[in-house]
Amino acid sequence: MSALLISNGTIVTDSAVFTADLLIRQGKIAAVGPGLQAPDAEVLDASGKLVLPGGVDPHVHLDLPMFGTVSSDDHYTGTKAAAFGGTTTVIDFVSLDFPTFRQSVDAWRVKAEKAAVDYAAHMNLTRFDDAVAAELPSLLEMGITTVKTFTAYNNRLRLDDGSIFKALRMTRDCGMLMLLHAENGDVIELLVTEALASGCRTPEWHARTRPAWGAVESALRAFALSATADAPLYLVHMNTAGEVDMLQYARERGLKVMGETCPQYLFFTEDDLRRPDGAKWICSPPVRSAADNTRLWQGLANGTIQTVGTDHCPFFFDGTKPILYEGKPVAIPGKELGRDDFTKIPNGLPGVQDRLPVLWTAGVGSGKLTAQQFVALTSTNPAKIFGLYPRKGALLPGSDADLVLWDPQKKVKYGVALSHQRTDYNLYEGWELTGYPEKVFLRGRLIVDGETWLGKAGMGEFLHRQPGAPVL
Ligand code: URP
Ligand code: ZN
Ligand code: ZN
Repeated sequence: MSALLISNGTIVTDSAVFTADLLIRQGKIAAVGPGLQAPDAEVLDASGKLVLPGGVDPHVHLDLPMFGTVSSDDHYTGTKAAAFGGTTTVIDFVSLDFPTFRQSVDAWRVKAEKAAVDYAAHMNLTRFDDAVAAELPSLLEMGITTVKTFTAYNNRLRLDDGSIFKALRMTRDCGMLMLLHAENGDVIELLVTEALASGCRTPEWHARTRPAWGAVESALRAFALSATADAPLYLVHMNTAGEVDMLQYARERGLKVMGETCPQYLFFTEDDLRRPDGAKWICSPPVRSAADNTRLWQGLANGTIQTVGTDHCPFFFDGTKPILYEGKPVAIPGKELGRDDFTKIPNGLPGVQDRLPVLWTAGVGSGKLTAQQFVALTSTNPAKIFGLYPRKGALLPGSDADLVLWDPQKKVKYGVALSHQRTDYNLYEGWELTGYPEKVFLRGRLIVDGETWLGKAGMGEFLHRQPGAPVL
């Protein structure tokens, strides 16, 4: 692989912004600094452009069977979409679908082989018995250092508090990190039963049956379990102001707890669920209120929340009508499955490509976040928390040359026409964005050049992670 000198770009890291050259050799960053000389290198003039570390999305669900269908991006289309949005690493979830972790991971590895950017896995810990406990440490041999537990989805994914506590002691001893989905499964079960019995079937009932207080109390309960077990814990997809309050309360007391939010919780509210096409906004946990949006932005700005992931889990809005993807018609059953019953609407929405562009415009463009915070939240912090740093999330000599050449002036009218997410809608349709990826490099290889796709299925590498990552 030939050398590439990216000259005169504005380098943006989680802690600094400066003008420099960046030299890539053998897929790695070889040097960063002013006036670099590399006569053998091809030169790319990056004047007026920002050079960012490739995005790390710590939360995606690709090719995930649920609600009698499957999330509509597989490991190729979802990672291609990620790349177009400036994300070069994703962390997917392995479902515990088989009797053992090993079998579940092996089956997932086969599906994930076609990824076009680098990828890692979290393991869903949705059963906890002696056999699961005995096998848990062996996840490390599989390169998996994180497990996700749930306090919701009764009789499906939920673990009781005792099991979460036991698992926390094990993750602590193994140098692993537990992720937690915080909602109150019992309250949801009761409210859903009552809503259906009263004939309440529209999408807004998805939010009305999954109250914010359930997320708040469950988050605090999980932090208490984490403190008691002296084990780190990462709260996924934070969606309520109360969770930000609880995370702040816990961190102020020195607990080893961290949190993630997602763009949908920064921009959308229950009002969107009341639109005629409200099913597009159905995800779990649900979108909440404008006050929640505001508090989550504050949590990002003041450092209470460490990351912005996506929970990318797309479905078609109308999966009976094919779209063209790479010139071929594709239709995958989606939100129409719950046309007459909100409980049958597949939970999840697209976002892996949207994350950096919308967060840049709404966060950095509006002055809510600095460019360094943007890099920290979307790349460096997830890389550190999930044991990928400094290979990922950094512009340091020796790091993988995963880079985004970002045009901070570029204006686009965003939406499905620009999106490579394999679904028939985009939540940000018609949004005017300023700042957009121009070129994206994966380990030194140019994979996105404007609107041209140069990557290919299978070029993503599985990232075998090491235990003992820091708590930020
Ligand atoms: O609606 C969503 N987010 N589906 C994915 C599952 C989860 O809990 O993250
Ligand atoms: Zn979840
Ligand atoms: Zn998720």
